[in-house]
Amino acid sequence: MPPPLPIVVTAGETGPWQITAIRAVAGEGLAPARRLVVEEGQAAAAPGAWRLRGVTSHLRYTAEAERDRLASVQEGLGRPAALRAALIPIRKSEAWWALAQDARRAILEENSRHIAIGLDYLPAVARRLIHSRDLGEPFDFLTWFEFAPEHESAFDTLLARLRATEEWRYVEREVEIRLARD
Ligand code: HEM
Repeated sequence: MPPPLPIVVTAGETGPWQITAIRAVAGEGLAPARRLVVEEGQAAAAPGAWRLRGVTSHLRYTAEAERDRLASVQEGLGRPAALRAALIPIRKSEAWWALAQDARRAILEENSRHIAIGLDYLPAVARRLIHSRDLGEPFDFLTWFEFAPEHESAFDTLLARLRATEEWRYVEREVEIRLARD
């Protein structure tokens, strides 16, 4: 795994991504803004309507065979054809965090098939999981996805499948931010 990389997301008046929609899926939403920028390391962008921070990290729940399968099919961020993106900040409940590691893994994969479902949408969807919980942020995770416009409806289906799982019963705050660039 590469070393942890700090990530800063700033929503405001500038940035390469146009915000096309912000929707509160569960719990409190986020304020409207026009554009968004994702920065690695220090933030150079001026503070905007809101700012969220996190850090890339090691895998917690992924088994070796799953990791190898993901590595063999997934594509990276920043593909020229990936003109659409989604930022989905998520906070899970205290009940989730009270579970032991093996119980959380069982809910995530054996019961909810999170990784198996996700694999159905690779390589069309590229992604990055950013951890925020240990930074005292309002969300536990910032999840980021990039795809071509023709794969947007497949991405919608992916969201519906994941939100119907047992794992998502532990999601107490979720905001869906849809993005586009030229
Ligand atoms: C975690 C794969 C889509 C939200 C994970 C993990 C994998 C994974 C392998 C476990 C990481 C670890 O071992 O620590 C995928 C794939 C997807 C996908 C292949 C297909 C595009 C999504 C979507 C969302 C999402 C659409 C949000 C709506 C999360 C969250 C976690 C996670 C919040 C962290 C769970 C936790 O640590 O409690 N994903 N995922 N994923 N994913 Fe996905």
